[in-house]
Amino acid sequence: MVAAVAPAPAIADGRFVHGSAGVGDPFFPRAGNGGYDVSHYRLALRYTPAGNRLRATAAIKAVATEGLSRFDLDLRGLRVSSVSVDADPADFRRRGQELLVTPRRPLPGGEPFKVRVRYRGSPRPVIDPDGSKDGWIPTNDGAFVADEPQGAPTWFPCDDHPTDKATYEFRVTVPAGVVAVANGKLKYRIRGRRHTTFVWREGSPMATYLATATIGRFEVSRSRADGSPSYVAVAPARTAAAAPVLAKLPAILRLWGRKFGDYPFAATGAIVDHAPSVGYALETQTRPLFDTVPDQATLAHELAHQWFGDDVTPRRWRDIWLNEGFATWAEWYWAQHTGGRSTGAVFDALYAVGRGDTAFWNPPPADPGKPENLFDGTIYERGGMALEALRQKVGAKVFFRILRDWVSMHRYGNASTRQFIDLAELDSGMDLRGFLRAWLYRPIQRGKPPLP
Ligand code: TRP
Ligand code: ZN
Repeated sequence: MVAAVAPAPAIADGRFVHGSAGVGDPFFPRAGNGGYDVSHYRLALRYTPAGNRLRATAAIKAVATEGLSRFDLDLRGLRVSSVSVDADPADFRRRGQELLVTPRRPLPGGEPFKVRVRYRGSPRPVIDPDGSKDGWIPTNDGAFVADEPQGAPTWFPCDDHPTDKATYEFRVTVPAGVVAVANGKLKYRIRGRRHTTFVWREGSPMATYLATATIGRFEVSRSRADGSPSYVAVAPARTAAAAPVLAKLPAILRLWGRKFGDYPFAATGAIVDHAPSVGYALETQTRPLFDTVPDQATLAHELAHQWFGDDVTPRRWRDIWLNEGFATWAEWYWAQHTGGRSTGAVFDALYAVGRGDTAFWNPPPADPGKPENLFDGTIYERGGMALEALRQKVGAKVFFRILRDWVSMHRYGNASTRQFIDLAELDSGMDLRGFLRAWLYRPIQRGKPPLP
């Protein structure tokens, strides 16, 4: 909804400019686009798993943040058949991951506009700098759709940066017997003889990387979990194994609600798919997505992300420890809460790792250095340790106040590491700069980060 980074306008054309091809995130320079803010995506998708065929229309509501004679959307692969802006046909061109749109009439700065894109093809995942894949990942019976950090444009045209949050409607048509699960609430289903259309709505602002429309022959159960409507979809033959873990979902949500503040969204649930080639789970907004049956730690982790990552989202990709460090610390806290090791004991065991083990300690969590390291182990473990060190330094009471204030200050928005350090100092009344900087930014060659 809000662009946090103001990119330099590209080629000027009188009062109108070409919106830039990226928002200036150094890890993914072409991610996102300049010149407008999206407020809503309405995605109508028709997917045929046999042959991996997608046919779709995206209707996007946005506001121009400057006068635009041209703007970009991010779109990877697929064939575009038409683009219109405010109901007039528009010219379009492809250039790498960009779809360049030239409206018939330039768009005045400050004015809302609507783009409609019709497209089709065989969606394919993108290979990330670390070699993993994300985006639309076909499975035996549908598709596993996980977009972090850059997969959303493999299935819809978008402003693909975490700073441009928007609301969503998904209308997904699949063959009868197949289920399509997206974010938010299931509004209704239209059941034909040969097809079913699932209409989902996510009414809270959501980053593109948290959108999903995962498809398969799922078994579905609907209930309420800690006050929210819950929609759980599980791959066939996985239901028995998944049931005991998924039974913990309400208790985990209740604990996070107590510790982090009220659950931020209008629905919850989970998707347990069978997608062995993926190798990770994702905190898709309202409804975490698992490539296999998760353990309790992983479920607790993805649910903690609903506060840390989904509600409060990093401003830049290099701030990713604000997601992964927090969710990892939350895993440890859930283990302690259920009678396992204490967070302090986990910290002590990890702190004993020698400084010669540079792969364990580097890169420092708030300075991953390059996009290959976004999901490096240190972002998770040393990031979690930094929070545990903070908890011990300021005491549990102040620590949880910091976490709750973090969430309420940045609700549905974006935030940076610097803002977290500032808040920790404000809430504790302590000078924490040197301590947190050492934990978050200092390479191990300059010594282990300080004990609290
Ligand atoms: N955010 C996910 C989690 O930890 C992990 C993840 C998402 C990931 N995309 C990835 C890990 C790509 C490696 C590569 O919950
Ligand atoms: Zn995570």
